[in-house]
Amino acid sequence: MERREFMRACALGAAAATLPGIAQGNVEPRMYGRARLTDANGAPLKSRGVPVNTNLIFHYPFAATPCFLLNLGKPVKASARLRTADEKTYQWPGGVGAQSSIVAYSAICSHRLTYPTRDISFISYRAEPTPTSRYARVIHCCSEHSQYDPAGGAKVLAGPAPQPLAAILLEHDRERDELWAVGTLGGEMFNDFFAKYEFRLAVEHGPAARRPVEGTCRVVELAQFCRQQVKC
Ligand code: FES
Repeated sequence: MERREFMRACALGAAAATLPGIAQGNVEPRMYGRARLTDANGAPLKSRGVPVNTNLIFHYPFAATPCFLLNLGKPVKASARLRTADEKTYQWPGGVGAQSSIVAYSAICSHRLTYPTRDISFISYRAEPTPTSRYARVIHCCSEHSQYDPAGGAKVLAGPAPQPLAAILLEHDRERDELWAVGTLGGEMFNDFFAKYEFRLAVEHGPAARRPVEGTCRVVELAQFCRQQVKC
């Protein structure tokens, strides 16, 4: 792979402050295993093939930690400065892919850690306003109605969430039009998540819940992953 939108150099922890759009505040990217996104059949996912305004889900950087992959349908620029709950700042670098329109975020709500399970999801992307939301094109958590702007680094638009969703850093191979997950940026909730849901995750995933994801990770539509989506 010759050209990448995120430089692998940051995996080494060096010169992060020089990366465009990253670490201009005081939260640095956290690099995890590098994983190529694939479709439901295991074929590499092409950025041009990612459907617009569709909830897609994959698990990264651990086997049990869900993330949204969204094609917002138009180029997405870097965000304004964002702030974590512990008052650290960062700038999210914007969309990737052939149209710079693809974004990814942890699907664990930063309020009380609601997340999509195979049985039910209270959190998802909504392209249109709803009776409980005047906003369109938001990630909406129906638990207490936190809403996040996926075109703005998942900044909080409404509700009690104390910080943006953590961003999943994606790399785009322009030659092959493939997408790779490589790390996170922002306020991670993974330790709290594993502590809160220890029993449930053990039932769902056994000892594999904390297994680091690398190599590949499968992307599926939320509607296929989850039996029931709560709309609010
Ligand atoms: S858990 Fe999402 S708004 Fe409370």
